[in-house]
Amino acid sequence: MDKETIVCWLKEKDEKKLNELWEMADSVRRYHVGDEVHLRGLIEISNYCGKDCLYCGIRLSNKNITRYRMTDEEILECVEFARENGYGTIVLQSGEDPYFTAERMEELIRKIKEKANVAITLSLGEQDEETLKLWKSAGANRYLLRFETSDDELFQKIHSSKYGKSLERRIRQLKWLKELKYEVGSGIMIGIPYQTYESLADDLLLFKDLDLDMIGIGPYIPHPDTPLGKEFLNSYKMDDTKFVPNTELMTYKVLALTRIIRPDANIPATTALATINTREGRILGLKRGANIIMPNLTPPKYKRLYEIYPGKTSADEPPEIIHQSILKIIERAGRKVGTGFGNRRKS
Ligand code: 5AD
Repeated sequence: MDKETIVCWLKEKDEKKLNELWEMADSVRRYHVGDEVHLRGLIEISNYCGKDCLYCGIRLSNKNITRYRMTDEEILECVEFARENGYGTIVLQSGEDPYFTAERMEELIRKIKEKANVAITLSLGEQDEETLKLWKSAGANRYLLRFETSDDELFQKIHSSKYGKSLERRIRQLKWLKELKYEVGSGIMIGIPYQTYESLADDLLLFKDLDLDMIGIGPYIPHPDTPLGKEFLNSYKMDDTKFVPNTELMTYKVLALTRIIRPDANIPATTALATINTREGRILGLKRGANIIMPNLTPPKYKRLYEIYPGKTSADEPPEIIHQSILKIIERAGRKVGTGFGNRRKS
């Protein structure tokens, strides 16, 4: 699919045509990755962050949140829940927290691997090559690092100059990760202020160029305690003839196009999508290209503090309840729970 066609789809309003897009994405999904929905248990291990991204609620300058760090024991309890419930993967996510040094993480990865036969995905921000190498040798399998936007100017605008804002460095890390034999995930937010249709089409082409194994796509949700959120809520005039809106519909379009462009990628129906449509977001995501769900296994007392955007779905529910509701979603979507690690099946 070329850039012009992608832009056309992004601007498409006709319901009949869009139904064709959903059907196309669904059949590509069925053919390339099948009906299994793999569960990745998300553990948000710390909300300390040394970066100051203008859209993110756990940014360094946000003094309105209580910071926490989980202990190894608490993390291992979440892993145990994942193991008991047959999850193929656990995902360790945090802000860029200097407490979790290369060596501490290495030890934690080894402890998890001793305890459970699960794939480990890390989502710990920007790291140097040596650290990534160490974590890989300790047993980590995958790494998630969204590039957020492929438009250098927009990237500069939404990241803080004080603490590093280089799109090039981020892309470089994604390439190291590939070389180190991680499965590599990246992704974007839909409808960040001033995102153009052309830049969004370039994002999709970059998914293909980087041959990503996993791709996360969610709507931008303004956080009132961030500079970008304040601007969005107070003065940003959304003009969808010029800029991409942060809507549910736009998110589905990008999800469906991503499936068509990267047919065998693992693509989650994200929490951000479930946040803007609690009842149907994940089901529609599964029907329009997605094949992964990431149930949040973080204990509620911490999860509510991991507020990268407001209103995060099921912020107060314990893992048992979340797990049951996700099984229902998978059933209602006419799919089945995946077995094994749920690695990329190259086609
Ligand atoms: N709205 C939606 N997604 C966000 N993220 C961070 N802040 C927001 C927000 N306000 C996403 C980023 C990041 C991922 C962990 O969460 O894409 O990579």
